[in-house]
This record gives sequence, C-alpha cells and structure tokens, in this order.
Amino acid sequence: MAVTWQGSFCMEVTPLPCLLTVFGALGDLAGRKLFPALFRLHRRKLLHDNSGILGCGRRPMSHDDFRAYVRTLPELANVPDAEMAPFLRRVYYLAGDYLRDETVRGLAALLDQAGKELGCTDSSRIFYLAVAPDSYLPLVEKLAGAGLLSEPCESADCSQWRHVVFEKPFGHDLDSAVELEHGLLRHLSERQIYRIDHYLGKETVQNILMLRFANLIFEPVWNRNYIDSVEITVSETVGVEHRAGYFDRAGLLRDMFQNHMLEMLSLVAMECPVSFEADRIRDEKARLLRSLRPLDPADLMLGQYAAGNGLKGYLEEPGIPPDSRTETFASLKLRIDNARWKDVPFYLRSGKRLNERRSRIVINFKHIPYSIFTGIRETDLSPNRLVLTVQPQEGLTLELIAKKPGPKLCIGPLALDFRYASILEPGESMPEAYERLLLDCMLGDQTLFLRSDTVRLAWNYLMPALKAKEKITPILYPAGSPIETVCR
Ligand code: BG6
Repeated sequence: MAVTWQGSFCMEVTPLPCLLTVFGALGDLAGRKLFPALFRLHRRKLLHDNSGILGCGRRPMSHDDFRAYVRTLPELANVPDAEMAPFLRRVYYLAGDYLRDETVRGLAALLDQAGKELGCTDSSRIFYLAVAPDSYLPLVEKLAGAGLLSEPCESADCSQWRHVVFEKPFGHDLDSAVELEHGLLRHLSERQIYRIDHYLGKETVQNILMLRFANLIFEPVWNRNYIDSVEITVSETVGVEHRAGYFDRAGLLRDMFQNHMLEMLSLVAMECPVSFEADRIRDEKARLLRSLRPLDPADLMLGQYAAGNGLKGYLEEPGIPPDSRTETFASLKLRIDNARWKDVPFYLRSGKRLNERRSRIVINFKHIPYSIFTGIRETDLSPNRLVLTVQPQEGLTLELIAKKPGPKLCIGPLALDFRYASILEPGESMPEAYERLLLDCMLGDQTLFLRSDTVRLAWNYLMPALKAKEKITPILYPAGSPIETVCR
C-alpha cells in the first residue's frame, strides 16, 4: 500500500546528561539488548554528550577489557571503529559482587570519577538491575545504604534523578509482589521505580493509543455494539532455551500473561485517559484491570510442547525435570465487566515452540446488520477485521469488503495493509523496544513503565489460574505446531 507521511507533530526530546549503571553487565540481557540499544541511542544523538555508562559485573576485567567485550557483541561487531570509538569512550566497568559493601563503595567512587571525566557530576543517575530478581531488594538496600538513591533536590523541575530500573518478574505471585513492592518503597518513591515491560516499547503497542485516540474513525465503533471479539496472540518459535531454572518455576502464565498479555489488553480495552500523561494513562489501565471479571479456570487451557517436527519436547530440554507439568502454552477467555465491553470475549493465547513467531492483536467486528445485495446474506460477507501486527513486520491491516474492479458485480474481502518500515527514512531501522524505554527512563517519563497498582492488579487477576494450574495436567502439543491447532 502506498503511504505518504506528511507533516507530523514530534514531541521534542532533549537528552539530559546522566550516568547509567548496568548491573549484570556481562549477562544475556545487557549483551543482547541494553548495550546495542544504548549504542543506537548514541548514534541517533539521543544520549547526551556528557552521559556515561558503567557496566558492573562479577568477572574481573579492566575498563578496556570491558570496552573490547562490548565491541564484540553480535549486534555491534560490524559497526565501524570510527562510530564505536566515541561510544566506547564513555563506557566504564566495575568488577565485584554487587551485594558487598566494598563493591558499592567502589561504584560510588567510579560514579564520581566518571562524572568528573565526562563533565556530568551533577547529573541524574540510573541504576539498571539486569540481575536475578531475588537480588532486587538486597541490591536496592545496599545502594540506599551508600546514599546512592537519595535525590539531591526534590522540586518537580529538578533533573538530578535517581531512577532504578527493574526487569520482570515483579514477584512470583500476588503476595510476593506486594512484599517486594513494600520493600522497594522503603528506599525509593514510586516516581523513582521503572518497571520494564518491553512489550510497551514495541512500536505497534505504543501506537495503540494514537490509533484509538488520535483518530475519529475507531473510537465510535470500539465497543460491544460493533466489536464481536478481540484476540491477542503471541506465538513464539523459541522454546525454553537456556532459562530452564527460571521458566520451569514460572511457566507461561507468569512469563507472558501477568505482564505482556495483560498490558496489551489494557491498552486495547481501557477508556480514554484524561491526558497523555504517564499517571493518567496508568490510571485507566488500572481501572480496566479492576473491571476484569474474576477468572474462571474453566476458561483456561494449558499446554506443553512434546517432541515433534524434528524438535525436542519440553521434558527433554536441559535442566527440565522429567515429570514437569509446567505450561509452555496458555489460552484464556476473558471478560470485562463494564458498559463498553459487556459480553465481548477477549481471547488471549501465547505459546512457545510453535511453528512461527507472530504477535498480533485482532479486533473482529460484527457482521453488517442488513445486506442490500440480492442473494447475499449479511453473514456471507466477512466482517471487518483490524489486525495490529506487533511482530514481525510491525504494521496494521484493515480488512474491508469491496467491489472487485470489472464489469461484473463481484464483492469480496480487501486488505489495506500497512507496515511501519515503509515510512522510515532510507537507511533508518525500526527502533528496538529497549531504545525507547531507556530513553524514557533518562527523560523521566514513566508512561511506558508499570505502576505498582497495575502489577498488583494483574497478579490478582491471575491468581485463580495459578492456583488452578497446580491441578491441571497440560495437554501435549507437538513442537512446531501452528497455534490454531493447539487451541481448542
Ligand atoms: C520475555 C519472556 O519477557 O518475552 C520470554 O520472558 C519471551 O519468555 C519474550 O520469549 C518474548 O519477547 P519478544 O520481544 O521476543 O516477543
């Protein structure tokens, strides 16, 4: 589809100087996502010239060794030296067990040193905890004990923030999530806590709000009068990979539903916020989560991949107990008890080791009420569908009924298909979710981060499913199956 992108409103983004410390700097997340995203922000001139990055890991190495390691990360290995060098100059490294006092003292000293060398002594500090979740609280306690989390000024326009970024999981169930929240709030205010759900940084997911609230044509039909059902699907080809220890304890409901699936649902189904401000948007998400009808375990289906299509089964994966009943697939029919959505089913489905990687949100509209086309019933005409493709090939498709060109009267479905990549400038690439999220954290914008009440509400909703799953034996599906064949 030919798309023209004419004149746009761009919010000004002025990068502010900051020192970002990444704990777990030698880990998988930092190597695959964080450092590549930071480099791309640097390349897009969205990292302030005076900003610096401190990697913190257990393995002893010098600043230069760490720079050399960053240089060889798969995503960065092919970047020309001339582009990498100015980025690497602002990268530092600290070795040590971050739960020990001397490491935290070393960090305070290195922050001072980097601040002086880079010219950002009075800037904000961000601490990114890419570490095991059971270290969150002890590490925050250590940082707080060393005075590293106290903000030097409290006024709203003060930009010397101390932000701490957490990756999911935020607890293992409702009780542990509440306990973690209470522990964190002893040392940090909610304003300083950045809980990441990387799905919120994906372009299509961010665009749900623009689509719904910056256009006239969707909102009037975005309700039970015109929408028949909504599907949110995340199909993955990857299996448990090297995360057996975490995944077997968590399972798919905790891994995907408590966060990504319910966050996408909130954006699709929430009411219009009063304004485009972090807390006003998060207020509406919380209100939506409060409107969910308590989950009926009869609406839940769980699956586990078995060997198939030349792929191993879950129980044969390294580190998985041979009698594990952990679900690698879940589907859920969900209802929202409010005036907008009464009686509209929402189908949420996600699974691992399926035949394709595909995440999308499908809005299925109702049939037209009456057909004027002789011999064609209303139900003969496919209802409209709006498909928001989250990945791959982010975009949206609107399926309509139209006349096929020609002298005969032929009517049938027509898809208006749009991919975001088609409106990028030449040489530009789709931004990765982590770019946007890291940038927002540096700008102090919490819109795309989770607030404690929405985390709690999501756990609260899922608790009946988590209890029910103890008694459910997941159905087996062959690895490499299409998602449609796994669902009832
Ligand atoms: C993570 C889950 O949050 O999201 C993983 O822990 C999952 O199990 C991943 O594979 C999916 O993210 P993406 O961006 O690849 O769809």
